[in-house]
Amino acid sequence: MIAKRIFILTGAGVSAESGLSTFRDTGGIWSRYKLEEVASIQGYENNPAFVLEFYNMRRNTHAGVEPNEAHIALGQLQTIWAERGGAVTICTQNVDNLHERGGALSVIHMHGEIAKARCHDCGGLAPYDGDLSPNMGCGACGRTGGMRPHVVWFGETPLYMDEIYEALSSADLFVSIGTSGNVYPAAGFVSAARAAGIPTMEINLEPSGNAEAFDLARYGKASEQVPAWVAEMVAIAG
Ligand code: OAD
Repeated sequence: MIAKRIFILTGAGVSAESGLSTFRDTGGIWSRYKLEEVASIQGYENNPAFVLEFYNMRRNTHAGVEPNEAHIALGQLQTIWAERGGAVTICTQNVDNLHERGGALSVIHMHGEIAKARCHDCGGLAPYDGDLSPNMGCGACGRTGGMRPHVVWFGETPLYMDEIYEALSSADLFVSIGTSGNVYPAAGFVSAARAAGIPTMEINLEPSGNAEAFDLARYGKASEQVPAWVAEMVAIAG
């Protein structure tokens, strides 16, 4: 099998055609909100109600969207590779659950999951699809006022980094899909892959911020480019 172990990094572009805003494109989330106000510890401590409301709004938007052809194709690739003795790691920066709903068997959410709530005091974590408010209590430690979305804010360390670098270092193909290549550590994965001698490819609407770091590139909509690439991989693998 060519590329027995594939590491896939996804970003907001893979969910754009499902109707979820990207961050840095024209009209994106960071053109409407100040990142430091809604996605940093400082912003949360300054105005928890405003930050929780921002994520309540996004959680509600996420509930009304469906996976697109890109999510579905990646789910199929992961399933087919697992059946044939290979492995596809899907590592996403997205806090939505569209990969899972598109059929992915397992997903690493390095920036967290918006449909979970976490206690800022004790770390207690639970699925939560309702609105969060500053006067909610934690089911685990009982303290009030610390329930926050299970998302990584700027200044916080992304999740599962050991697992991610282990999967990346044992991969034989790295593919980055729908991400601008602006946010580290994810933006550095391509360099780590290259340093390990792993071939790299990006699939994006347009050249990303670190496009020159990739060996190969395919440009266009994720809903078209990803299924086409997956079909080629499956055909080559036989
Ligand atoms: P960005 O908004 O920075 O970049 C989205 C990328 O997707 C851009 O390069 C677009 O060209 C591309 N794109 C848009 N529509 C597409 C489509 N239909 N098909 C293919 N590509 C498309 O989003 P991310 O790179 O994911 O972090 O952002 C990374 C992180 O920055 C996010 O996880 C979030 C944000 O701040 C946190 O909140 C911690």
